[in-house]
Amino acid sequence: MSRPDPLPSPVLPLDRLGRPLHDLRLSVIEACNFRCGYCMPADRVPDDYGFDAAGRMSFDEIETLVRGFARVGVRKLRLTGGEPLLRRGLPELVARLSAVPGLDDLAMTTNASLLARHAQALRDAGLRRLTISLDALAPDRFRTLSGGRGEVDDVLAGIAAAEAAGFGALKINCVVQRGVNEDQVLPLVEHFRHSGHVLRFIEYMDVGNVNGWAAERVVPSAELRARIAAHWPLSVLDPHYRGEVAVRHGFVDGGGEIGFVSSVSTPFCGDCHRARVAADGSLYTCLFAASGQPLRPLLALGEDALVDRLAQVWTRRADRYSELRDAERRRGRRRVEMFLVGG
Ligand code: GTP
Ligand code: 5AD
Ligand code: SF4
Ligand code: SF4
Repeated sequence: MSRPDPLPSPVLPLDRLGRPLHDLRLSVIEACNFRCGYCMPADRVPDDYGFDAAGRMSFDEIETLVRGFARVGVRKLRLTGGEPLLRRGLPELVARLSAVPGLDDLAMTTNASLLARHAQALRDAGLRRLTISLDALAPDRFRTLSGGRGEVDDVLAGIAAAEAAGFGALKINCVVQRGVNEDQVLPLVEHFRHSGHVLRFIEYMDVGNVNGWAAERVVPSAELRARIAAHWPLSVLDPHYRGEVAVRHGFVDGGGEIGFVSSVSTPFCGDCHRARVAADGSLYTCLFAASGQPLRPLLALGEDALVDRLAQVWTRRADRYSELRDAERRRGRRRVEMFLVGG
């Protein structure tokens, strides 16, 4: 008897600029226990801002969503917030998502203030990688930058707990602002050299509408790189994969690796293969999108309906905000807030 033909492999959608959909960044909660000025300044996002716990997708909905995204090409999933560790039951969600067929990477971005008590459970549940935000080492400065809510010692304890739980190389993200935390750059480099973790410096971006962004506050990566290299010579390393956001650099003396994310001075939209979904199930095809597309009604119809819609939305995508920044800013339209889509 002849064997049946193998199932045809699905045709994965490309957007209007020929970019595949490879990464999904999924926010599990829009609330945060910090108030970083570049993301949710306390005077613009007070405690009673109106976060809507009832509007968040359930774990069942999230699992269906991720299964659908995997069918249209997503291989890498990053959980974000707000602060994802504020979502109750997160290890259970991680366990469910780590079993979704097709995914080969599962990561999370966190401010790490609550990580010490959750690192082991997340690791045991199948989380593969962690990225930690850390903008200063000096305790007073850290407190100020977190909007008066965070302690750097908690973050360092979170990092130690992640190491103990078996997370290998962590990524440590630092957003640098002119005149605000520039002086923390060299101490951070010194702290993380030889640690096995990868510190990345991120140019301050004009995401959202509430952070009061000003171009003068951006420290271009080239300037930072020169300052660091004057102390510890650096050489550029090849990217791990096409479209990698950070440009990797190695310390010539073998002290490890650092990176620079330069979306203001050197936009990288040409290879952008990332979709973002907010905790309420809205899909954003760019970090700077004006609006999202609600996916929740489709989840109720099941995975196939979702897959059809995702392919349709992705095929129509033409976003490249960072490449068009000046013109886009002149148009003056609103942009989604970072705390809704999580970086
Ligand atoms: P890996 O999976 O470890 O390679 O992580 P990554 O470098 O893709 O992700 P990460 O979330 O650490 O990205 C670092 C920072 O880069 C984010 O916090 C954002 O500030 C910025 N960023 C990430 N993706 C984009 C993007 O698509 N557009 C822009 N403009 N900035 C981005
Ligand atoms: N500019 C650059 N990066 C930002 N993030 C949040 N807001 C901004 C901004 N305005 C990123 C930081 C943080 C992550 C959660 O989002 O990397 O660590
Ligand atoms: Fe919270 Fe992260 Fe935004 Fe800071 S950057 S306010 S830690 S979500
Ligand atoms: Fe992608 Fe938009 Fe960022 Fe460009 S600005 S890299 S299109 S998310």
